[in-house]
Amino acid sequence: MSEKYFLKENMEKNVSDYDFSAFKKALKMGQNKVIKEIEDSGLKGRGGAGFPTGFKWKLASQQEADLKYFICNGDEGEPGTFKDRLLMEDSPVKVLEGIMIGAFAVGASQGYIYIRGEYAKPIKIFNKIIKEAKKEQVLGENIFGSDFSFEMKLIKGAGAYVCGDETSLINSIEGHRGISRIKPPYPIEKGLFDKPTVVNNVETLSCAAEIINQGSDTYNELGTENSRGTKLVCLSGDINEPGVYEVEFGSMTIREIIQEFGKGIKNNKELKFVIPGGISTSILSNDKIDIPYTYEDIEKAESSLGSGALIVVAKGHDLIDLMLNASRFYMDETCGTCFPCREGNRQVHHMLKKAMGKGIDHNKTELIKDIGKTIRLASRCGLGQSSLNFIGSVIDEYPNELLIGGVDNG
Ligand SMILES: Cc1cc2nc3c(=O)[nH]c(=O)nc-3n(C[C@H](O)[C@H](O)[C@H](O)COP(=O)(O)O)c2cc1C
Ligand code: SF4
Repeated sequence: MSEKYFLKENMEKNVSDYDFSAFKKALKMGQNKVIKEIEDSGLKGRGGAGFPTGFKWKLASQQEADLKYFICNGDEGEPGTFKDRLLMEDSPVKVLEGIMIGAFAVGASQGYIYIRGEYAKPIKIFNKIIKEAKKEQVLGENIFGSDFSFEMKLIKGAGAYVCGDETSLINSIEGHRGISRIKPPYPIEKGLFDKPTVVNNVETLSCAAEIINQGSDTYNELGTENSRGTKLVCLSGDINEPGVYEVEFGSMTIREIIQEFGKGIKNNKELKFVIPGGISTSILSNDKIDIPYTYEDIEKAESSLGSGALIVVAKGHDLIDLMLNASRFYMDETCGTCFPCREGNRQVHHMLKKAMGKGIDHNKTELIKDIGKTIRLASRCGLGQSSLNFIGSVIDEYPNELLIGGVDNG
């Protein structure tokens, strides 16, 4: 079992009790060294896309502008993901410190934390933290006697999954409808109110604060060449002990995470498949989960680590019902801008609804896969592009079970 933790240090809830040692260290290091340290750590964004954080900060720091923004993405809408909530509740000051370090590194003077509306507790905590930080002059002009000034606000999301996408989130903060923007231009060039803007996930920023605190060398002792450090895994589904577990990349297989952290499958049932990165990712069947938990191994198995939501599915579920559930989510959550995403997800939902209790034939499943390809090719944002990953992979893996009504009694 992995016994190495990285994020567990400095779990503070009050600004006045926190020493901000990582931020003070960053101020002494200067912008370029902070960016280099994050680049050297190999940290990849934990919001789902896995974009290298140091590189994003470097590009943003090179933008010439009178004003830059730094946004912490706490929307956490991917079904099965609940690790950002834990960080915002249990170590909010470290999240704040990560935001301040990132803002300092890229030269941003204004920031936001965008938290999903359903997260009442993190919203309450962050309102308090921001107020306290202003009072303690941790936010404001010339922080800790430096040249760096930074102000921050909290924005409460209104329950749309698409608003977790960075460009929709920016539209939402500007007061527009939460719909994705066409990229390029990327937010680091032209983001919030047309100014260079960095958007980073809550977990990414907690890691960044700890990397500055403990050094990229310490971070690099953990994980593999392409998956450095640790990852918060949200374990849910048919397991005995669901929860958030910190896993050193490469130290455990997916099956070991389920067995050792999750304490195995509920009611002694047999595992059928896992969804390794939230419902926007393809399934891995029981025979494919003896692989190390890393970005590269999961990609090799033709899925994605996504946001770290590891959903475990035991034998005995109605597969069509599971697919119907997923399709309802995408049908409800599409912003409607792109015709294939809007109409395709509605059509798939309709076909699956008709198939409930009866089964679905090969022609229809091929049609669903075709719709999936069209949506992937012709959609503007990741919501549409990944909306049929889960459903398409179930069709590929269990074609015969779908024919006989979707129930697997094996
Ligand atoms: C539909 C959709 C939903 C998303 N939801 C989230 C989210 O809830 N939290 C998040 O951090 N990133 C989310 N992302 C990814 C963001 O667009 C962005 O890549 C991320 O916030 C960047 O931070 P990172 O580089 O630290 O991962 C979502 C993307 C899409 C397409
Ligand atoms: S892919 Fe879907 S969610 Fe994304 S912009 Fe297009 S319609 Fe909206």
